[in-house]
Amino acid sequence: MRKIKVGVLGATGTVGQRFVELLEKHPFFELSEVCASEKSSGKTYLEAVREKWKIKAEIPERIAALEVKDCSPKGLDCEIAFSALDSNVAGQIEENFANAGFAVSSNSKNHRMDADVPLLVPEVNHEHLEIINAQKERRNSEGFIITNPNCSTAGLVIPLKPLDDSFRLDKVHVVTMQALSGAGYPGNSAIDLIDNVYPFISGEEEKMETEPQKILGKLNGASVKNAAFKVSAQCNRVFVSDGHFECVTVELEKKPSIEEIIECFEAFNPLKNFNLPSKPEKPIIVMKEKDRPQPRLDRDKGDGMSVCVGRIKESKTMHYSFNLLSHNTLRGAAMSSILNVELLAEKGFLK
Ligand SMILES: NC(=O)c1ccc[n+]([C@@H]2O[C@H](COP(=O)([O-])OP(=O)(O)OC[C@H]3O[C@@H](n4cnc5c(N)ncnc54)[C@H](OP(=O)(O)O)[C@@H]3O)[C@@H](O)[C@H]2O)c1
Repeated sequence: MRKIKVGVLGATGTVGQRFVELLEKHPFFELSEVCASEKSSGKTYLEAVREKWKIKAEIPERIAALEVKDCSPKGLDCEIAFSALDSNVAGQIEENFANAGFAVSSNSKNHRMDADVPLLVPEVNHEHLEIINAQKERRNSEGFIITNPNCSTAGLVIPLKPLDDSFRLDKVHVVTMQALSGAGYPGNSAIDLIDNVYPFISGEEEKMETEPQKILGKLNGASVKNAAFKVSAQCNRVFVSDGHFECVTVELEKKPSIEEIIECFEAFNPLKNFNLPSKPEKPIIVMKEKDRPQPRLDRDKGDGMSVCVGRIKESKTMHYSFNLLSHNTLRGAAMSSILNVELLAEKGFLK
């Protein structure tokens, strides 16, 4: 099979490095372009990232030698652009690529809530891809933008989906303990983080309180009608390298038994008949041990794409509480963005 040529915008950053690692061994895609800011363009990829490469695996040799380009669609040798751009610049650059005919798969917040842009988590809402057709018409272009959610929302909505399908969500309260890599590089100052819990992440609570309703919303012609449940979020940065940990409490319209909750989590596998290399075998892993999941032990389950759930118990104020763990740069960013494009290919949305 011919591999599809792809580029990464923001290839030198925390999420961009994950894209490089994952795309170099991908069965459908060939990474042919790496793009970043003026500071990096003109250098080889190795020169641009030598002092800030943060992934355990070595920089792939072929990519190390590529020239970093600026983020302009002109003359690039690829059909798809994965965006890991800083949100201060992502909005306009992604528009430029979509208007120039590229399929753009973005990790940035800028276009997530646009009415004709899908905010995708394939296990939850793959049918939302249909709204791309309205977007192409608006742009008068074959190009379009798809997005994945904020890294902490990405883990949250996966267990919320089977709960909503079976028992209807009414209210969700979530407290996060988010990893250092979620802030990009260099991120927060070490002085704020060592021996501390840092209780503010700019814009994060607002994203967690609004994105789940779009993701779990219903396709309504050319847009999505948001779900009605309410989410309240309190977000914190903790001294963990990778893996966002979340304490979730839910109130449902119909109170199930604890066994029914476990059963609906374990049965959840809506992509089982899709041929998508980045999907995990199990989107939700229910851990029965009383002290799991833990970031250091469990963040790489399902190659970083499974959401681990544990400590499911009755709540004294709402119905049930549980803890979850999901990998913020894999499930919460690069690998989900790749899964979204695999879904585009599977559903025939790529030329
Ligand atoms: N980190 C996570 O866990 C995570 C999870 C989900 C979503 N996100 C989102 O993903 C995006 C990237 O996050 P990150 O953590 O990877 O950030 P990062 O480490 O700060 O990387 C930012 C990237 O944007 C590039 N860039 C900055 N200014 C630019 C400009 N003017 N023109 C072109 N490129 C420019 C940088 O290139 P240079 O190296 O040349 O400056 C770098 O490649 C953000 O929108 C973030 O909110 C991050």
